[in-house]
Amino acid sequence: MQILVTGGTGYIGSHACVELLRAGYEVVIADNLSNSSAAVLERIERIAGRAPVFYKLDVRDAEGLRLLLKRHPVKAAIHFAGVKAVAESVADPLKYYDNNVNGSLALFTAMRAAGVKHMVFSSSATVYGAQAVSPIGEQAVTAPVNPYGRTKLMIEEILRDLCIADPEFRAVALRYFNPVGAHASGLIGEAPQGTPNNLMPYICQVAAGKLPELQVFGKDYPTPDGTAVRDYIHVMDLAQGHLQALDYLERAPGFSAINLGTGRGTSVLEILQTFERVNQITIPHRMAARRPGDTAVTYADPRLAAELFGWHAALGLADMCRDAWRWQRQNPDAYA
Ligand code: NAD
Ligand code: UFG
Repeated sequence: MQILVTGGTGYIGSHACVELLRAGYEVVIADNLSNSSAAVLERIERIAGRAPVFYKLDVRDAEGLRLLLKRHPVKAAIHFAGVKAVAESVADPLKYYDNNVNGSLALFTAMRAAGVKHMVFSSSATVYGAQAVSPIGEQAVTAPVNPYGRTKLMIEEILRDLCIADPEFRAVALRYFNPVGAHASGLIGEAPQGTPNNLMPYICQVAAGKLPELQVFGKDYPTPDGTAVRDYIHVMDLAQGHLQALDYLERAPGFSAINLGTGRGTSVLEILQTFERVNQITIPHRMAARRPGDTAVTYADPRLAAELFGWHAALGLADMCRDAWRWQRQNPDAYA
């Protein structure tokens, strides 16, 4: 069975491709390489023992998508392609609406023309906004607070409408919490361009000596140790969730939005201490002011994914820290 994976050379997409190939799917990647490297393709092949088919293609390229889908009779699409930096989305909203919303519209249009009826979409816990009370269930109010989050919610709404218009069209939007970690081989992982914004890649670059110290943003949150709490999920658990969502689509009509998180909150200091302990390395750090826009506590209620398709996060914080560091250590310059 062939699956189209947009954004398949990116961080989460590359891990999902490995799991899809290992499960026996034929994988066809469409990625414009705007935030990834073609070097990942050979790594995917080394891990999975089989290569994905790759097209350097922007999902906004309607004709390119048409030709791809003509050549590859895919059963389903997993749509990772998109831009994802919150601050950049505030500064340049058109880039976000164009890439994410127009890109999705072009993809869904091409899928309709080719008769591809199953979609798994990369959504984000960011659709819940700042007011949601953790654990956050899927029925929580959606109120994203930045253009990036709004693109994710808009795409979910488009998918919902498409499922109503065509009873054969089915879609699952997976709302990821905080993906971290890397494949246990150390061959693929997260490759942020420039200075990382997110906690785990930042810690890894401090550990590698590329950055002098970690700033812990906020020490006076109403949490046990005063630092902010998130739901970190290992990228391999996340990848596995996509395979289970694909299976679920075989038996579930309509649209569903489903959280992928562990249900466990972890503070910044807990991550830091776990990273130091499992990797036997000291991370210079200092307490700093809160980062504007951050919530105190965000973690998932992950029960729906368990109920609907039996998914549970299997890996813990120690695995996330160990695997993230192995990837960083073995690839100081990522895929360069
Ligand atoms: P990533 O940037 O590593 O991967 C995205 C991939 O999409 C990249 O390879 C990039 O080159 C490609 N791409 C971007 N725009 C494209 C376009 N117009 N046409 C074709 N390819 C395009 O990001 P990621 O962390 O792997 O995220 C994957 C998806 O998951 C994104 O949609 C993101 O919004 C979503 N998500 C990520 C997180 C996270 O923390 N990493 C959290 C929630 C949701
Ligand atoms: N943090 C630090 N120091 C750093 C970086 C982060 O203390 O150098 C803290 C943050 O303040 C936050 C926690 O570590 O408390 C996690 O921060 P991340 O940036 O790793 O993750 P966020 O939860 O802020 O953001 C993630 C995704 C966004 C998404 C958001 C909401 O990266 O794309 O979740 O779902 F919008």
